[in-house]
Parts: sequence; structure tokens; C-alpha cells
Amino acid sequence: SEVPVICIDGPTASGKGTLAAEVARLLGYHYLDSGSLYRVTGLAARRAGLEANAANEAQIAALAAALPLQFTEGKVLLAGEDVSDDIRTEAAGMDASRVSALPAVREALQDLQHRFRRLPGLVADGRDMGTVIFPDAALKVFLTAGAAQRAERRHKQLISKGISTTLDSLRSDLEARDARDSSRSVAPLKPAQDARHLDNSQLSIEHSIDTVLNWWQQVQ
Ligand code: C5P
Repeated sequence: SEVPVICIDGPTASGKGTLAAEVARLLGYHYLDSGSLYRVTGLAARRAGLEANAANEAQIAALAAALPLQFTEGKVLLAGEDVSDDIRTEAAGMDASRVSALPAVREALQDLQHRFRRLPGLVADGRDMGTVIFPDAALKVFLTAGAAQRAERRHKQLISKGISTTLDSLRSDLEARDARDSSRSVAPLKPAQDARHLDNSQLSIEHSIDTVLNWWQQVQ
């Protein structure tokens, strides 16, 4: 494809979403939050009473392939219902991680992800953007941050939304999620061979944005 893509992959709460959305905005590119697709699939499965396991894999994949999804003004609509808040909880993150380990579900969501690749360009964030979905991307960033920093950031985010949690439970949740995401057999969380590594534990968001924009200029 002639359409340029920037991939930003990394573990839970590493700051991928904020960074990718901001880079997309500054470049005037489209933005794909691939995690939201797994989160919505997890929610749809839960509502259909389907536990995320191999026995239900085909049924959950069928749900994923036909999600009545719309993205408008930063909101995610499922069959017209605004589920933006429902998919952001920690429980929804865990559900997403479980359905995302099912190979047929990952396959069912591939076309939808590829359709986000439109001119003038795309910034995509997730776990396997650079390794599986857009392997020909001109720039691949693997974004990390220490577990303590990630737990703290997620804590702030949730508190600001009025959701109460403790730092300890968040940290163990995100470590459990990363362990599952890294050890699964299909599309595990790992840097692409040609990824550039960015540890933003001690970096401001502005600094991370500048770094990615500089790298983007270098590869043009
Ligand atoms: O990025 P986010 O935390 O919203 O993703 C939720 C879950 O969806 C992740 O823990 C991961 O299991 C799954 N995911 C994935 N592949 C992606 C994006 C997200 O498996 N490209």
C-alpha cells in the first residue's frame, strides 16, 4: 500500500493511546485504537453470555466479524449505544485480553483494522500493529514504561473518571494482562525486529511526541 503507517505497540498503560492520538492529530492522519476493537468484542461476548474460551471461539469470532461499530467524535458506538466508558474499565481490559488470545477472533478483526489505512496516512496503536497487521509500516515504535509508572498513570486516569481502585490492584492487573498478552501463541506482545524502542518512564508526553515526529521525518 502507498498509504503511510506509523505503528505504536507496547504493554498496557504505556501511554500508547495518548501518544498515537496526538501524533495522528498533528500529522492530520487517521488513528486506529486497535485495543478498542478487542474491548468491544469482549463486551459483546459478555453480553451474549459467552465466556472467553476455546469452546466459544467460533461464536465470539462471528460476533467480532459483524460488530455493528461506529467511531464518532472520539466515541465508540455499538449498535448505536455509546459504550466508550463501559469498554475502559479494568474488567473490560481483562475481558479484551481473554478474547484477544483466541486466534479466530484476531483473524476476524484483521479486515476491519486494514480498512483504517486510508490517505493521507494512519497512526495505529496496539500490541501487534508492527508485527502482524501492518508489517510494511515505515515506522514502528515499541513504547514501554516501568510497571510502577504505568500503574500510577492508569490510576490517575481512572480516578479522573470517578472510578475508584487501588494502585496495588491496578499494578497486579496490568502485570497479569501483560503476562497473558506476551505469552499467547498468536500475535504475542513483542517488538517487531525493525521497531525503535522508546521508554517513556521519565519522559514528558511532549518529548515522546517530538521523538516520534523526528523519527518519522528521518524515514520519509
Ligand atoms: O490497548 P488496550 O489496553 O486497550 O487493549 C486491551 C487488550 O486488547 C490488551 O490487553 C490485549 O490483550 C488486546 N489487544 C491485542 N492486540 C492489539 C490491541 C489490543 O491483543 N493490537
